[in-house]
Amino acid sequence: MHYPFLVADKIYLRRLQKEDLEGNYFQWLNDQTITKWMRHGVFPNSCESIKAFYENQSASKTDIVLALVLKEQDRHIGNIGLHSINYVFSSAEIGIIIGETDCWGKGYASEAISVLAYHCFNRLNLNRLAAGAVDENIGSIRAFEKSGFSREGISRQAYFCEGQYHDCVNLSLLHSEWLAGRAHGSI
Ligand SMILES: CC(C)(COP(=O)(O)OP(=O)(O)OC[C@H]1O[C@@H](n2cnc3c(N)ncnc32)[C@H](O)[C@@H]1OP(=O)(O)O)[C@@H](O)C(=O)NCCC(=O)NCCS
Repeated sequence: MHYPFLVADKIYLRRLQKEDLEGNYFQWLNDQTITKWMRHGVFPNSCESIKAFYENQSASKTDIVLALVLKEQDRHIGNIGLHSINYVFSSAEIGIIIGETDCWGKGYASEAISVLAYHCFNRLNLNRLAAGAVDENIGSIRAFEKSGFSREGISRQAYFCEGQYHDCVNLSLLHSEWLAGRAHGSI
């Protein structure tokens, strides 16, 4: 492991580094299969745009992007971000991408969300975590639900993907629910 920050069973999270921009990361956000149910992939991602994004988020205290790395091969397979961190309302939003498609369906997203949630409630003193997913993005919805998130509503026709408007499923996890879930051993 290199510079681990949050360590789970099969994966760990660390700060995104400049070298990560040279890897496959750049292409994940151009790949129409990966971005099918995302806001990304609408306009082409360029070297310059990803570097500008990196510089912005490096200095930000309200948006943090962490590299999601497989412990076994020390392979950078995706990113998980904490966005719109609000220190008054103690809330934030989580976004995730597993860019290496051979790593889908192996439980890595669920692990990453769970270990980040632990950090949010245990160290960052947050009270509410939110996430949104296109209604057809079953893997994403399920990964958040496995980590203790509940569906709290729908934003109607909030996305346009695959030629049609799609509802966004809004999910959230409160500190109190997270504590109760841990006490019951369900998350
Ligand atoms: C969505 C995504 C994050 C899921 O990551 P993942 O590592 O494959 O998810 P996990 O392996 O932790 O799976 C979580 C659950 O969803 C299920 N699942 C995963 N992909 C699925 C799919 N395509 N269809 C149905 N179920 C799926 C898993 O079986 C698991 O449920 P289970 O434990 O009850 O069997 C990943 O596929 C991805 O990054 N996709 C592209 C980008 C994206 O859509 N990001 C999310 C934007 S909101």
